[in-house]
Amino acid sequence: MEQVQLEEIVEYYSCVKNPKDQENIVAMLREIQEIDGWISQEAITYICSALELKETFLKCLIQRLPSLKLAPYQHIVTICSGERCKRKGGDIILNTWKEILKPDQNGISKDQVFCLRVRNCLKHCTQAPSFQVDEKLYSNVKPSDIRKIIENYRSKKGTSGTNK
Ligand code: FES
Repeated sequence: MEQVQLEEIVEYYSCVKNPKDQENIVAMLREIQEIDGWISQEAITYICSALELKETFLKCLIQRLPSLKLAPYQHIVTICSGERCKRKGGDIILNTWKEILKPDQNGISKDQVFCLRVRNCLKHCTQAPSFQVDEKLYSNVKPSDIRKIIENYRSKKGTSGTNK
């Protein structure tokens, strides 16, 4: 993204009524993301300085909205941290993903293909432990199968995967 494009968008949104309203901030972020497909650290720094926002606030907002990205990753992995999944090995599933992907503090994998997130319950407790890759649900997966699932997404860019 060219700096001038970023400045134009931020300037426009800083002049709207109530620029710090979440609705306006999200609209601005969506517009910025349309250019490169994600929102860079440079863009975050610039927005925060122009609108006097805290970086932690802006990053939390981006992380809460699945359509916004802090890196050009291709897949969102959502691991269930709910009690029923935990009792059936959910922690081992989460640790296995972490060991393979080595995510940074924003959950972005080292190869920037995946974004790893945790959610309290995926509403499929009877099939615990569960996780999702994008919209696809995986249940009762053995930790030893996770590497293969990851490789499928890496090689086929997420168009397939084995649902258990
Ligand atoms: S506790 Fe994991 S799906 Fe409900």
